[in-house]
Amino acid sequence: MNNHGELSFEQIVSHLKATGQEENELFQRAAAIKQTHVGNNVYLRGLIEFSNICEKDCYYCGIRCSNREVHRYTLTHDEAINCIRFAHEKGFGSVAIQSGEIASATFTKKIDRIVREAQKVTDGEIGITLSCGEQTEETYRRWFESGAERYLLRIETSNEKLYRQLHPEDGKHSYTRRIQALEALKKTGYQTGTGVMIGLPFQTVEDLADDLLFMKQMEIDMCGMGPYIEHAATPLWKEHYRLLPLGERLRLALRMIALLRILMPDINIAATTALQAIDKGGREEAILVGANVLMPNITPSRYRDDYFLYENKPLSARNDEEELDYLDERLQAIGHRIGYNLKGNSLRYGKRTSSLP
Ligand code: 5AD
Repeated sequence: MNNHGELSFEQIVSHLKATGQEENELFQRAAAIKQTHVGNNVYLRGLIEFSNICEKDCYYCGIRCSNREVHRYTLTHDEAINCIRFAHEKGFGSVAIQSGEIASATFTKKIDRIVREAQKVTDGEIGITLSCGEQTEETYRRWFESGAERYLLRIETSNEKLYRQLHPEDGKHSYTRRIQALEALKKTGYQTGTGVMIGLPFQTVEDLADDLLFMKQMEIDMCGMGPYIEHAATPLWKEHYRLLPLGERLRLALRMIALLRILMPDINIAATTALQAIDKGGREEAILVGANVLMPNITPSRYRDDYFLYENKPLSARNDEEELDYLDERLQAIGHRIGYNLKGNSLRYGKRTSSLP
């Protein structure tokens, strides 16, 4: 393995299967590459789960539109702005506004107003990531011009056949359109992120190797990926007997993160909530093997339990201030420090755009 991320497909597959000493070596390698390229700062994105209303019907997701058991909510404008003020005051360099997918003029306007006001109340100091699904190029442009700098749209799996198995063929879900949306985001000028679920039923290590190569080939700037976790009120639940045990899914996700860091040394990689759902130290483990972004949930607590994507999703045990102190301590204990008041832009994005004509 060389330092420059030139791993072959076969090598990636073999590393994805690594255990014991071989796995340790992979983790150490990724940690060293991370240290060299992005250092030991961990950037915070305050996660705001804006709305769990969703037009999509993904077979794996707890807030799919067919799940009638979900109590649906949308934050008010003021609630969203209060979250952003809180994040800014606490030194979070940025927020991520995540939502179920809604394509409507009203929704577009709501997000637009929040993005504009967030700039105003923080003097342009807060970085804004949107994660609001597939939208038209025009909507992406409008939000970008209002001040959103980053967008996260997970491809979920880069295997088109598997994508079809995970989504209904109802005209609302299309692998091709999702790729086109990612391309539109890049073209618009966003720092563009994607990601996949790891350990899905029917997914092979070869699929995961392809996912990593897909991200490299797409030249993404950021990645958020985590283990698939079953949810009893979804159609995919019936396949749960096919799944790896949770502990093994977590390790597989850690190997994915390590390999992505080796393949793409200067991107931002998030230690996602799903890792924490499996093991309360899962995010710190991810930081140790290559991740450099944490997304503490700052959604108002009365809504939090309704954004229930999968089983064991961590709920609010501490208040958000205590949570931040706790994270600060945990990160220091593993030789990292929080990059307070820093937007933590993707270094890859900087290089990608400065080399444009
Ligand atoms: N397990 C893990 N991640 C999930 N997501 C949705 N459902 C699940 C699940 N059951 C992820 C998807 C989506 C993001 C909001 O949450 O990747 O893009």
